[in-house]
Amino acid sequence: NRDFLIAPSILSADFARLGEEVDQVLAAGADIVHFDVMDNHYVPNLTIGPMVCEALRKHGVTAPIDAHLMVKPVDRLIGDFIDAGATYITFHPEASEHIDRSLQLIRSGGCKAGLVFNPATPLSYLDYVMNKVDMILLMSVNPGFGGQAFIPGTLDKLREARRRIDASGRAIRLEIDGGVKVDNIAEIARAGADTFVAGSAVFSAGRDSDPNRYDSVIRAF
Ligand code: DX5
Ligand code: ZN
Repeated sequence: NRDFLIAPSILSADFARLGEEVDQVLAAGADIVHFDVMDNHYVPNLTIGPMVCEALRKHGVTAPIDAHLMVKPVDRLIGDFIDAGATYITFHPEASEHIDRSLQLIRSGGCKAGLVFNPATPLSYLDYVMNKVDMILLMSVNPGFGGQAFIPGTLDKLREARRRIDASGRAIRLEIDGGVKVDNIAEIARAGADTFVAGSAVFSAGRDSDPNRYDSVIRAF
């Protein structure tokens, strides 16, 4: 019996009223704020950076913030996100020149560290750093945009990642990101995930004028 955590991706939130959106999904029962950082270089889209993370902390957000860095290079932004109040910092191994160093940077800043795997990136990147990882994030879409369809082959990869985590004996979270919906989350959980990112499925729920519009979708998860 694993503990399951729901991490709405604010990529699909209304950026013009971000603080309120984050307050509402947390009030609805979400556990973690998933914060997608895109640089128009490592991925073909441009989003938000450490200033916005800091602004959410100043706004009063105390929930864990999960900074998913889709940027290259990664190390300087790692320092900025530590200072901005991130809880988890995850990065793509292909985007770091020195994966071990980037993981150590995150941990020495008091944050939890994670590696992110694109659909075609092998889990063998974990081989020599399993003891420095607090989270493994499997992408079930190619990174860059919300609202894409879940890639089914990710289920086998989740099972392999779960085996590696169980064999390590460490408390490593297994997060899944991309195309998670109310109707596929049970199957994804059975494959081994315990932390679920959901962007469009959460933030497209209900009418804008209803402050409780996220309650039913978070509860359905
Ligand atoms: C994609 C991002 C995801 C994305 C998920 O690059 O990492 O977090 O926002 O969005 P949905 O849930 O809509 O697939
Ligand atoms: Zn993400």
